[in-house]
Amino acid sequence: MVLPNKLNITDPIALSIAEEKISKHNAKRLFETGALDAIPVGTFAGLADIHRCLFGDIYDFAGKIRDVNIAKGSFRFAPVMHLQASLAHIDAMPQGTFDQIVEKYVEMNIAHPFREGNGRATRLWLDCLLKKETWQAVDWSLIAKDDYLSAMERSVVKDLEIKHLLKNALTDTIHERALFMRGLDASYHYEGYRHFRAEDV
Ligand SMILES: Nc1ncnc2c1ncn2[C@@H]1O[C@H](COP(=O)(O)OP(=O)(O)O)[C@@H](O)[C@H]1O
Ligand SMILES: [Mg+2]
Repeated sequence: MVLPNKLNITDPIALSIAEEKISKHNAKRLFETGALDAIPVGTFAGLADIHRCLFGDIYDFAGKIRDVNIAKGSFRFAPVMHLQASLAHIDAMPQGTFDQIVEKYVEMNIAHPFREGNGRATRLWLDCLLKKETWQAVDWSLIAKDDYLSAMERSVVKDLEIKHLLKNALTDTIHERALFMRGLDASYHYEGYRHFRAEDV
């Protein structure tokens, strides 16, 4: 069964292809119009804006807090019952240094506020936060999929690996279009979406 969607697609492969094309296009527009720079950093409200922009054409739940409990591997993300409180706590976490920002990112992943699309939306959110606070951003193309996913799986217990990976992929070329585009492709690749290049959508 696929997630109910505004496109009325019932085939999982067709949905994943359409989702990639539309949401990648929307992400690219968010960058190109400068709207991404105007999104408030470090808050759930900002993350919800990003999620809505990416997935609003596809899912009714875009930008909305999920109402079901979800897990990946053996990890259960924040229970719906505690989600609001957990998001309020994350909003208030400090974000002045690289370490604090990654700690905030790890907590946002544990919250996993949306039904789907958390990874892709939250990586854009992380970059907005890093750019604003540290004038650096992650070059996601330098981080291999398996390394990223195992560091995130580990991050719920210990954040050393994800901090190490992200720190080694930081760049100062934060306004570069090519950085955004290859980062978007890498971010989608982590989640198994590799049908379209950001340049082509
Ligand atoms: N076992 C795990 N434990 C903790 N976090 C995980 C685990 N597996 C994946 N993740 C995180 O969840 C993200 C995927 O969440 P998801 O909502 O499916 O986003 P998307 O739809 O963008 O793929 C990954 O990018 C990773 O950060
Ligand atoms: Mg997913």
